[in-house]
Amino acid sequence: MQVQFRIERFNPDQDTKPWFGEYTVEVEPTDRVLDALNLIKWHQDGTLTFRRSCAHGICGSDAMRINGRNRLACKELIRDYGDKITIEPMLGFRVIKDLVVDMEDFFASYRTLQPYLINDEPAGVGRERPQSPEEREVFDDTTKCIMCGACTTACPITWTNEDFLGPAAIVNAHRFIYDSRDQGANERLEVLNSKSGVWRCRTIFNCTEACPRGIQVTRAIEQIKRTLLTGDNNPD
Ligand code: SF4
Ligand code: FES
Repeated sequence: MQVQFRIERFNPDQDTKPWFGEYTVEVEPTDRVLDALNLIKWHQDGTLTFRRSCAHGICGSDAMRINGRNRLACKELIRDYGDKITIEPMLGFRVIKDLVVDMEDFFASYRTLQPYLINDEPAGVGRERPQSPEEREVFDDTTKCIMCGACTTACPITWTNEDFLGPAAIVNAHRFIYDSRDQGANERLEVLNSKSGVWRCRTIFNCTEACPRGIQVTRAIEQIKRTLLTGDNNPD
C-alpha cells in the first residue's frame, strides 16, 4: 500500500520555525511506522533525524506523536493508521532536530528520585535479599518502564509546570518505594510530597493512555498519594 507521511521537520541551523515534509512510501500494511521512517531516511531524505535502536519496544528510543498521540514508532502497525500519517516530536521538550527532543530535564527528574535499590544492611545467606512472590507482585507493574517519556510528555501539567517531576519519574520511584528490600522510601516520599511531586497530578489519565508498556501510571501515582496521606506503605 501507498502511505502519505507528513513529518514535522526542524533544523535549528537552517530553520526559524518547524515545517512539514511530505513523503509517499510503499509499505506492507503489517510494517511498523518505524519501518516507513527508515525507508524515508534511507531512500528519500537522509537528513531526516529520529532516535531508534532496538525496533522491538524495549529501548524506549522512538517515542513520538503519531496522528496526535504519543506512541513508539516500532510498535505501531501501518494498517492501524490508514494511508495518511502525521508524525511530530513529543510535546513539551525542546526540539534538537526533527523528531529528536532534549530529554536532559526528563532524566534529571528521574535521578532526583533515586531509581535504584537503597539498602546499606548486609545481604543474607548467599548474598541474597529474599522476597516472596506476593511482595514482588506489589510493584511488578512499574518494573516494566522503559523510560520512553510518552507518559510525561502526554501530561498537560508538565507542559506548563517545569518543576513537576512527571509521571515517568514517579513510576520509577513507585518501583522502589514498594519494594520490600528497599529502605529509601522515606527519602523518595519526601520529594514526592513537595510542590514538584505527586500533588501536581490532576488524574487526567493521559499518561496511562500513552504508555506503550500498558503500565497503570495513574494508579501508581494515586497509590503514592494514598501512602503519603495514610503513612501506610502497602499501596492496596
Ligand atoms: Fe514510557 Fe510507560 Fe515508562 Fe512512561 S511509564 S516512561 S510511558 S514506559
Ligand atoms: Fe527501541 Fe522502539 S526502537 S523501543
